[in-house]
Amino acid sequence: MCGIVGYVGNRPSLEVLIGGLRRLEYRGYDSAGVAVIDPTGTLVTHKRAGKLHVLIDDLASSPIADGVTGIGHTRWATHGGPTDRNAHPHLGDDGKLALIHNGIIENFSVLKEELLAEGYEFRSETDTEVAAVLLGREYRAAGDLTVAFRTVVDRLHGAFTLLAVHQDQPGVVVGARRNSPLVIGLGDGENFLGSDVAAFVEHTRRAVAIGQDQIVTIRPDSIEVTDFFGNPVETEPFDVSWDAAAAEKGGWSSFMAKEISEEPDAIANTLRGRIVDGAVELTELEPLAGVLADVDRVLLLACGTASYAGMLGKYAIEKWAGIPADVELSHEFRYRDPVIGPRTLVVSISQSGETMDTLMAVKYAQERGAATLSICNTQGATIARESDAALYTHAGPEVAVASTKAFVAQVAALYLFGLHLGALRGHLSAAELATNLAELQAVPDKLAIVLRSGPEIRELARNMTDTRSVLFLGRHVGYPIALEGALKLKELAYIHAEGFAAGELKHGPIALIEPGQRVFVVVPSPRQGGVLHPKVVSNIQEIRARGAHVIAIAEKGDVAVLPFADDVLRIPLAAPLFEPLLAVAPLQIFAMELAAAKGLDVDQPRNLAKSVTVE
Ligand code: M6R
Repeated sequence: MCGIVGYVGNRPSLEVLIGGLRRLEYRGYDSAGVAVIDPTGTLVTHKRAGKLHVLIDDLASSPIADGVTGIGHTRWATHGGPTDRNAHPHLGDDGKLALIHNGIIENFSVLKEELLAEGYEFRSETDTEVAAVLLGREYRAAGDLTVAFRTVVDRLHGAFTLLAVHQDQPGVVVGARRNSPLVIGLGDGENFLGSDVAAFVEHTRRAVAIGQDQIVTIRPDSIEVTDFFGNPVETEPFDVSWDAAAAEKGGWSSFMAKEISEEPDAIANTLRGRIVDGAVELTELEPLAGVLADVDRVLLLACGTASYAGMLGKYAIEKWAGIPADVELSHEFRYRDPVIGPRTLVVSISQSGETMDTLMAVKYAQERGAATLSICNTQGATIARESDAALYTHAGPEVAVASTKAFVAQVAALYLFGLHLGALRGHLSAAELATNLAELQAVPDKLAIVLRSGPEIRELARNMTDTRSVLFLGRHVGYPIALEGALKLKELAYIHAEGFAAGELKHGPIALIEPGQRVFVVVPSPRQGGVLHPKVVSNIQEIRARGAHVIAIAEKGDVAVLPFADDVLRIPLAAPLFEPLLAVAPLQIFAMELAAAKGLDVDQPRNLAKSVTVE
């Protein structure tokens, strides 16, 4: 949460900062602000509550002096409401120093008391201002921002990425990070800092991820990274695999629409180069080679949409590898006493690789001796770096807050992993492996067919703008899709929505059914033995008898649902485990279209941020 950008170089920094903030706005949009050191050596700041465009409009009507050193911030409010005053940057050293922050400083009230007792004053209700004032005090003592940072980080508890500039040190931006992300962009005569590479990818694709508990000082011609004690740290630059155009809307009405359209590519790219001569080749898993041969339980940790990908991963791993697999919400896992055996492999799933709950859960599992694998979409992200191995999804940058293409890519990666494990452990025959790999490779084309139903789904959504509650039912692999359909509708259209396992219906949820209640039902295939199909069709009859309006997502040619469904959305034929990769898109499109029909911002739903980097 919160997007952070820093620049030092040879061109007007405001343009770079605002460009970076545009790309980082998905991280939070409660307020935005910038601070630059102008050519006279004066620190100038401007900040406004509201989305970034409010700040941009303000700067257009009342321009501020520009310079070649600056920092910018887009906020997701934690401490203190989304007001001008609480917007970042915050000032220290009598307005000569500006600081921005992502994270939560847990001991801010103790520090604030200390500073108040010394006569310092505060203008905001934020934890961040405390860090700014503290840094100002330490700067006065040290006369150097980097040295001052070392003292300050020692006093802070919690999670933070901090960036600061001081007008007495033009040409320098200093940052520090603990448990929140920070990446350097390496330029020519200029350098950048960002919460993620999107902040600077239009200027450079060469990057360095800052590690845990490190301080970075950038100047136009140099970068210096140390640990919190000042010991130099070696850096490992990497190349960003996507370009700036990938993070643009490119003519689509929203990032979400664009990202749904990219789902077939997200899956194809995640599979690319990993299926060789009929076998799964995952060289990234080499650090886990010994563990994989011996693992007796897989524990999948994730939040939100990623946890529903994890549920599908569980079904796949159990079926193909014959190993018990469980999915846990990261935040529920961490604050109890989970039993982790010596042969448990923990697999975290996170698009951003920065979700604090998941990061902490991974660390918690590591402390208990678990080997860890990260399934992640963001190069150099913290969770991937902290894990024993990382299996990257190649969905490309996902900008819309609602996760769509990242979800299908996560499922594809989990399926590859499940098939790899099954083959490695001899649980899958060569023929079974080949059949499943062929099914997986066929998904992108089938999904492209599903996406053609966009207009039909838009029509359905437009007729439901007055709906106050929607239920989603699914069974087996349809169940996580029901949960995901409900989550999408809640977060985008602000409509009460619940997903249920269809088998659970008679254990309570059926009481919710009244005439006109809209219910989406993910119908399993009637083919291949199809034992679940008649059960779900019975469920449809049961709710229909009580007046529900049923929208079925059913395989092409499934006529059994026709007499009982009010609407049917068709998906192509696929083996059961692969159906969810096709069934999810209609629900994503439905939520997006309903939100759009209600005039809502589908890319930036209220109260949310893309990366949840605070607990
Ligand atoms: O970056 P992550 O995959 O770790 O994010 C996990 C969830 O916060 C995320 O999937 C969230 O539920 C999405 N907004 C859902 O669309």
